[in-house]
Amino acid sequence: MLLNRERSETRKMPMLPIRDVVIFPYMMTPFVVGRESSVRALEEALAGDKKIFLATQHDATIDEPKPSEIYQVGTIVNIVQSLKLPDGNVKVLVEGVERGKIVSLSDEDGFFRAVVRPSNVKAEPNPQLESLISRVTGLFEQYVKLSQSLNHETMIAAVHVDDASKLADTIAANIQVGIEEKQELLEILDPTERLNRIGEILEMEIEKLNMDRTIQGRVKRQMERAQKEYYLNEKIKAIQKELGRGEKSEIDELKKKIEAAGMTKEAQEKAMQELKRLEMMPPMSAESTVSRNYLDWLLAVPWKKKTREIKDIERAERVLEEDHYGLEKIKERILEFLAVRRLVKDPKGSILCFVGPPGVGKTSLGMSIARATGRKFVRLSLGGVRDEAEIRGHRRTYIGALPGQIIQMMKKAATKNPVFMLDEVEKMSMDFRGDPSAALLEVLDPEQNYMFMDHYLDVEYDLSQVFFICTANVTHTIPPALLDRMEVLRLSGYTELEKIEIAKRFLVKKQQKATGLTDATVRFTDEALGSIIQFYTRESGVRNLEREIANVCRKVARKVVKEGRGLEAVITSDNLNDFLGVIKFRDTFAEKKNEVGLAIGLAWTEVGGQILATEATLMDGKGKLTLTGKLGDVMQESAQAALSYIRSRSYLLGLENDFYRRLDIHVHVPEGSIPKDGPSAGITMATTLASALTKIPVRRDVAMTGEITLRGKVLPIGGMKEKLLAAHRAGITTVILPKDNEKDMADLPAHIQKDLKIHFVETMDEVLQFALERPVDSLASRTPEARMAAAFQPEEVSDQGSLTH
Ligand SMILES: Nc1ncnc2c1ncn2[C@@H]1O[C@H](COP(=O)(O)OP(=O)(O)OP(=O)(O)O)[C@@H](O)[C@H]1O
Ligand SMILES: [Mg+2]
Repeated sequence: MLLNRERSETRKMPMLPIRDVVIFPYMMTPFVVGRESSVRALEEALAGDKKIFLATQHDATIDEPKPSEIYQVGTIVNIVQSLKLPDGNVKVLVEGVERGKIVSLSDEDGFFRAVVRPSNVKAEPNPQLESLISRVTGLFEQYVKLSQSLNHETMIAAVHVDDASKLADTIAANIQVGIEEKQELLEILDPTERLNRIGEILEMEIEKLNMDRTIQGRVKRQMERAQKEYYLNEKIKAIQKELGRGEKSEIDELKKKIEAAGMTKEAQEKAMQELKRLEMMPPMSAESTVSRNYLDWLLAVPWKKKTREIKDIERAERVLEEDHYGLEKIKERILEFLAVRRLVKDPKGSILCFVGPPGVGKTSLGMSIARATGRKFVRLSLGGVRDEAEIRGHRRTYIGALPGQIIQMMKKAATKNPVFMLDEVEKMSMDFRGDPSAALLEVLDPEQNYMFMDHYLDVEYDLSQVFFICTANVTHTIPPALLDRMEVLRLSGYTELEKIEIAKRFLVKKQQKATGLTDATVRFTDEALGSIIQFYTRESGVRNLEREIANVCRKVARKVVKEGRGLEAVITSDNLNDFLGVIKFRDTFAEKKNEVGLAIGLAWTEVGGQILATEATLMDGKGKLTLTGKLGDVMQESAQAALSYIRSRSYLLGLENDFYRRLDIHVHVPEGSIPKDGPSAGITMATTLASALTKIPVRRDVAMTGEITLRGKVLPIGGMKEKLLAAHRAGITTVILPKDNEKDMADLPAHIQKDLKIHFVETMDEVLQFALERPVDSLASRTPEARMAAAFQPEEVSDQGSLTH
């Protein structure tokens, strides 16, 4: 066959091993020949037909390769040019003629002679070959475009070749692949096969080049962005410097402030760290605002500044005396407390807690203590606080986070040793967001509060020099763990006489000053003050009294402005209603008529001692007991106990044995908005029930308080003074009290004792004896008909008109 025509011929010719390059037919290649054997081979060829066989050695580093270290397939070339160089080397230019395979190789005369079988396989043109050619040309075109080291002309030269074998060899000579791959291509004799292999190699190479390109592009873009940012940042800095407010100066200033603030080591380190972060941030970013706020807070809390503490107890006594009337026992306790604090070097004592009704001077005592000891005064109301974060702050990761109230107040105090008043500790509540009282416990505990941790500040803050004072209206809702740490000082209400004194000495003066008046323009007579207390206020403290006095003063001030300076107003009980309008509390309980099913109890609630009318009505029913008026658990139980007592005494009270089976009983304690609790309403409820059931009215001028047992014993109760003051205020003349409370009478001002008739009792029977209008007639003394009537006519038991049929 034509295609294999030349296969049979062999030729003997000089052979030259080459390194690092594979020569293809049709390829012009210059190279330098240096090895002596090679130069001999070259000379031999030049002396002959200028043809020489070039074959690549396996390993380029070997100087004298053995025949086995030379590839068997190489190229017969024509030496086009040769030039002897001065250093003995020869520079040659060769042109590939055709590939050939070594049949035998001999080392003669110091160089290789090879017997070569040339091979020039041609491909028959056919449609598949055509499409292969165009595919490979297309790929080569792409390859040249992507590869930067090949010139365009090579491509054009290649593309214009129409012989498949020549095309394959031209491309193979020009692509940049390794020696092994090139040798592989050289060894493929069939042009179609060779083209296919070239196509594969090109596809792979194109893929590689594309990948290089994208990576390069990405790297370039990243570099560009970083450069741009750097450039813009530098520009901003330059502009700010130009404007004279370079961030540098702000950072420097903050740094100076941090150093001067006297922070703890931990805080200072934290601040410096934050400052470093701030420095790195773009100045206008949201992040930098957060960072700056944090630094501002760290700088705003007092770290070392304190006021000089006054330890002079006499001075403290003077100040307390100047600011407050009465309260002798309290003042004494406060002075003792201060004395102890003075003697103990590092006082880790208890916390003062003032407990008492509103307006009795708890807050103002705290302010006095601050004044007396030379400390600043801050106040925080804990009423309604139910989130730990309100005490301790939010972590800085929250947007808009702030420190808790403790730290905020310390900022306000601006010194680290203020009097810190925690108002309404008992009104703090708890929910799912964490227990604020636990946080408060830490604040108040001297063992812990020198390293108080606010979530926002995130550094320990020393609260140990703060003088904490708590206030509360009642103690029973203060969390026990907190109450445990407190030294409770109870302030009971004031008597009318005390109130008049307080008004005369303090409140009037204060209000005169507040309204720009003087003694010359407005004066209050004692009677006038007494009337304000009696008819316009009903309270344990003096808050409303002060308010009413302020009312009067404002009215007078208006008159002064209207009528001129010369005006002199003397306020008496007669002209009082010109200023304050109609009397607010005229009615006293004592003045009303006696009623069935209504007894007056004495209670002690958040607002101090109080009169509580307790009502009971009966309805047809099945023995249900309903209790209303916001009664606490203990109070409800004591109503049950009262009912059981009545049932056990039905015979003596003249009631049918099973009277309750046909009745529903409703007990109500008005003034429903005030929560009431405690056992002290026991005897009042029993009296109400007894009255409702026996239809005997209760005396209206009698008030009572005491716990009841199931067997009708009367047990002692607390808040005696408060309750008796309230009874007195309300015009009660007779009071029934537990026998065991007799000892508490010592606390009661003498004039109150004189005004009240007090019965001390041990049993419920005695209570009824003093409280009911007339003695009960027991069943024994009644006819059977009367007994029936009593049992079946419950509607007659009340005259309040609230009956249901
Ligand atoms: N013994 C007193 N002598 C002089 N002024 C008094 C006395 N008691 C109370 N006051 C005055 O009564 C006003 C109300 O007192 P304060 O605000 O201290 O009451 P409080 O006990 O703190 O009440 P709350 O429980 O409502 O906070 C203040 O102006 C206070 O100066
Ligand atoms: Mg107060």
